[in-house]
Amino acid sequence: MANVAWSGIESMPSMEDDHYLEWKLLLEQRTGMILPDERRSFLTTSLGIRMREVGFRNYREYYNFVLEGQGGKIEWATLVDRLTVHETRFFRHISSVNLIRDLLLPEWMSQDEIPKTLNIWSVGCSTGEEPYTLAMVLDNFRDTDHADYYYGITASDISMASLSTGRKGIFHSRKLREVDDLTRRKYFTRVDDTHYQVKETLRKRICFSHLNVLEMDRIPFGKMHMIFCQNMLIYFDKERRIEILDNLIEHLEPGGVLILGAGEILGWKPPILEKIDFNDTLAFRRLAAVN
Ligand SMILES: C[S@@+](CC[C@H](N)C(=O)[O-])C[C@H]1O[C@@H](n2cnc3c(N)ncnc32)[C@H](O)[C@@H]1O
Repeated sequence: MANVAWSGIESMPSMEDDHYLEWKLLLEQRTGMILPDERRSFLTTSLGIRMREVGFRNYREYYNFVLEGQGGKIEWATLVDRLTVHETRFFRHISSVNLIRDLLLPEWMSQDEIPKTLNIWSVGCSTGEEPYTLAMVLDNFRDTDHADYYYGITASDISMASLSTGRKGIFHSRKLREVDDLTRRKYFTRVDDTHYQVKETLRKRICFSHLNVLEMDRIPFGKMHMIFCQNMLIYFDKERRIEILDNLIEHLEPGGVLILGAGEILGWKPPILEKIDFNDTLAFRRLAAVN
């Protein structure tokens, strides 16, 4: 790593157009994310700050460093975390929560052969609020409807730092604003004046895994009853979105459901899927077989 001390008052170096395009392309190739040109200053500032932290003076040197060896790989992991959007909330999309609670779970439980374990996958889970929300819904349904099943949630993301936050399950009280009192008491423990931790009963149901959705051939887990993928595809172009979705449905059990955010993909419906109409949730069920 370069060993150059930066004084706090030195201004951020400007980025030449060709460097900007190189960085933009690298981000797109490695993460799939398309950075619109309006976000150029976000890219320049984020790179500039990080470059200073590790002691580089210009974007080209830093770029070369990121491409090289083990050090570059480690640095890339940090950089990805800085350049991706991790915004998320508990119970972010209520219509999807209602779909699971009011339609899918009762439907699954009324089948002749009830699955003993429901396998769920939260793709692009960020810091964990989404998979924990799913766990609360599944756990609560089991308690209140006396349903007899286990569930396991795989939560994956490209950002190591986000996954680490998710694993700890400790959140600022601000993050719990949309969690009602009953749910908070049932599933969280107070850590201090400003923080709560998700109870171990839920934490142990979730396996946080590092996964780039562009590398799905490396997925080590089996078929899922539900795949939840919201607010991640919007950063990719349509071609990539379709590629990712086509791969995701390969991991659905027959009868399994893919839940997306409204409007995240238009004009995509492979014959193996049927669309589920439920308020403003975009969801598809995998058919058992297609003639
Ligand atoms: C805006 S957050 C969405 C979080 C959550 N799904 C929600 O709806 O609240 C998008 C997440 O997608 C992740 N992401 C972006 N590109 C990815 C990729 N190529 N593979 C896996 N995750 C990715 C980011 O790290 C980020 O945590």
